[in-house]
Amino acid sequence: MNKVKRIIVFIGIMMIISCFFIDHQLKCALVDSSENARDLKAENNSGPKYIALTFDDGPNNTYTPLLLDGLAKRGVKATFFLIETNIEGNEALVKRMFDEGHLIGNHTATHILLTSKTEEEACREIEETNQKIYEITGTKPTYIRPPFGSWSEKLECIIPMNVILWNIDPLDWKTQNQAAIVKHVVTHARNGGIILLHDSYKTSVDAALEIVDTLTREGYTFVTADELLVD
Ligand code: NI
Repeated sequence: MNKVKRIIVFIGIMMIISCFFIDHQLKCALVDSSENARDLKAENNSGPKYIALTFDDGPNNTYTPLLLDGLAKRGVKATFFLIETNIEGNEALVKRMFDEGHLIGNHTATHILLTSKTEEEACREIEETNQKIYEITGTKPTYIRPPFGSWSEKLECIIPMNVILWNIDPLDWKTQNQAAIVKHVVTHARNGGIILLHDSYKTSVDAALEIVDTLTREGYTFVTADELLVD
């Protein structure tokens, strides 16, 4: 190992360690270490830049339509990880999402921590949500974003779902501040970025559209998250 590689490995290890101590979120170590690796990869990449907007916890009958209007106006496709209990009564909105070319994924029926449940309960949460989306769109989701990023390999044996996590997280639900969300995402944007937002807040929807306008000007192309999973 040469000196540069040793330094990179050291920085990576320090980031993971500091992550465990500073940030108590489950996903932290995983996300930040991959963020670091992708940053290094992106430095050598002067080709086209692809990035994905993903929205969790929807649909929301007030803000999701505004988001869909804004995305349609800009010709941008996004990815939505839906909660079954939020789909109830919003079936037309889900159909619209699908018809407008967005990718629809599973975010469980009741937003549970899948790894804290029995395999049977976890599978029921996933399967019910898949079934509900299938009844509306005619297509069963094959992608899942497990709430809190919590997933177990055991679940993969039972339900063949592809897990999509994220690597750019502006904590939009926490700040609910459009300018702060935009700033975080634009600063951390890179080729292969998967941005995590929630279409349950007006600030997030407004930020998402501003992010599209800003990053499009910077040469990014917005794609659905499945298009970035080539590794
Ligand atoms: Ni969620």
